[in-house]
Amino acid sequence: IRKIGVLTSGGDSPGMNAAVRSVVRTCAYHKIDCVGVYRGYEGLIDGDFEPMDARSVRDIINRGGTMLKSARSDRFRTTEGRKIAFDNLKENKIDGLVVIGGDGTFTGGLVFNQEFGFPVIGIPGTIDNDISGTDKTLGYDTALNTAVEAIDKIRDTASSHNRLFFVEVMGRDVGHIALNAGVGAGAEEILIPEENLGLDRLLESLLRSKASGKTSSIVVVAEGDKTGKNVFELKDYVDENLEGYDVRVAVLGHMQRGGSPSCYDRVLASRMGVKAVESLLEGESNYMVGIQHEKMKLYPLEKAIKGKTHINKELVRVSEIMTT
Ligand code: F6P
Repeated sequence: IRKIGVLTSGGDSPGMNAAVRSVVRTCAYHKIDCVGVYRGYEGLIDGDFEPMDARSVRDIINRGGTMLKSARSDRFRTTEGRKIAFDNLKENKIDGLVVIGGDGTFTGGLVFNQEFGFPVIGIPGTIDNDISGTDKTLGYDTALNTAVEAIDKIRDTASSHNRLFFVEVMGRDVGHIALNAGVGAGAEEILIPEENLGLDRLLESLLRSKASGKTSSIVVVAEGDKTGKNVFELKDYVDENLEGYDVRVAVLGHMQRGGSPSCYDRVLASRMGVKAVESLLEGESNYMVGIQHEKMKLYPLEKAIKGKTHINKELVRVSEIMTT
């Protein structure tokens, strides 16, 4: 391998820049060329490439988002699109790819490899922590801290006005952000897709907490929770079924995806970038770089895509004890 391309794709996450920086600097360390590909797989098809050296990535370790930009590419889902991408890589003498992103990004990389035999290594970058084969995805730690900080602020208003707040956090299919930020911010109830406790249980819990003398409450709701009601419908439901609650809703939304990465995410990104480039140099392909029990590991892309992450049952129990 003489020249490696790096791209970020799908939803951005804090730490992606630090990972790009690490990939570029590891290439420089091993004296091979590195090319940044803009706008994910879209840029691969458009030939939107830029040679990068150690200086091109200065001052980005602390920045959220991705300097390489990101996109979701429909064209890359087609054989024609992927063929153009392959020809562009050949023409530019790029012979390995590091793709930073989530599920969709890895699926694209895997299909591309299966079609053209092109070496691909993935770095898991998503705030949702929904990729198996790694204890943490890049950006998850930062997003948790952002969510906790926001909920702390909402709590000030909740307690000043004796209100109940439903706070929606991200997590399309998983409740890792909701569970951890909920425990961290001392939420009264946490609704996650993995454990649908039902609406009756929510009402009971709110009644219990009122009876115990609580005057304000925070309920953290994962975007993908399975009660069948979104946060606004939950508010209406409580308004209709419980007396004496002044209910408000806050949707944290994309603020959770932005911001300067935590130290943990910067360090993780640096480690993942080194492992990704060195794996390509050792002839590996079709793996994702993961962190398992503090060690950097390679995990098959195919398993990462198909695998499910599991909610931490011990933490679910902790949250139940904390809310009694
Ligand atoms: O990055 C994953 C995620 O944060 C999900 O939790 C959320 O549903 C989604 O991104 C929203 O993505 P967008 O609105 O940018 O398409």
